[in-house]
Amino acid sequence: MSTTFTIDTATSRATPTPAPMKRLTVPAIQRRKVDGRTAEPLVMLTAYTARQAQLLDPHCDMLLVGDSLGQVIYGLPSTLPVTLDMMIAHGAAVVRGSYHSVVIVDMPFGSYEASPQQAFASASRILAETGAAGVKLEGGEAMADTITFLSQRGIPVMAHIGLTPQAVNALGGYGARGKSEAEHAKIVGDARAVASAGAFAMVVEGVMEELADIITDAVAVPVIGIGASARCDGQVLVAEDMLGMFERTPRFVKRYGAMAETISDAAARYAADVRSRAFPTADQVYRPKK
Ligand code: KIV
Repeated sequence: MSTTFTIDTATSRATPTPAPMKRLTVPAIQRRKVDGRTAEPLVMLTAYTARQAQLLDPHCDMLLVGDSLGQVIYGLPSTLPVTLDMMIAHGAAVVRGSYHSVVIVDMPFGSYEASPQQAFASASRILAETGAAGVKLEGGEAMADTITFLSQRGIPVMAHIGLTPQAVNALGGYGARGKSEAEHAKIVGDARAVASAGAFAMVVEGVMEELADIITDAVAVPVIGIGASARCDGQVLVAEDMLGMFERTPRFVKRYGAMAETISDAAARYAADVRSRAFPTADQVYRPKK
């Protein structure tokens, strides 16, 4: 799919304006899984900014404004300090920068766990203030009532089970889940619970491959894997991981770019040009017309 943005050159950054086009919908995403199978896997990437959304959107079915933005762009030690206002600001930017993908915004830690009513207040702000199509929240069986409450009130919910980063303190780290029989059974139970509660899809993160396969077969809604299995109904990665923005590549990431090297190299060449007065040249300065 090619990018169909037209460039508005009146603005200082020539911001592309999306060509009018019908956006994918949550029901359309759900319908991709037929009789327990998804013929064409769903493509999801995280996006946090309008420009990033413009570049990723034509290639994706869903863009996730993940609370991973806390670590990726704010340099926070975990996702726990991320606020609802941060998610709303970035969610609105990603909606403005996309025209095709379904945009899902993460509900940050502390904005939904207390009660279904608290979750509704936060989720309704997200949808109203960003224009996103749905929210994602972490947790399995314990979140089932909240998922039902939201879905019955017009808020599409993507669940997130397995390794749930907002529970890092309880889990003791970011290691893969589902290694013991008890944990395996608990995660399968979580998957069934969130699907029955009305989640339109679920992210399954950081679990044993076999467990991801069992979950994918066990539920009727699309299962989006990250560190899970190629047999999931779709895959998601943090875009910056996939683009090679970081030196460390976690096991579940495949690098499709080398952004860290590209940026460092460009900055080094710019710095050298400034220091040697090779930049700016006559091409980059204003002179009276002759
Ligand atoms: O916050 C995030 O980016 C996520 C994905 C890793 C699934 O939840």
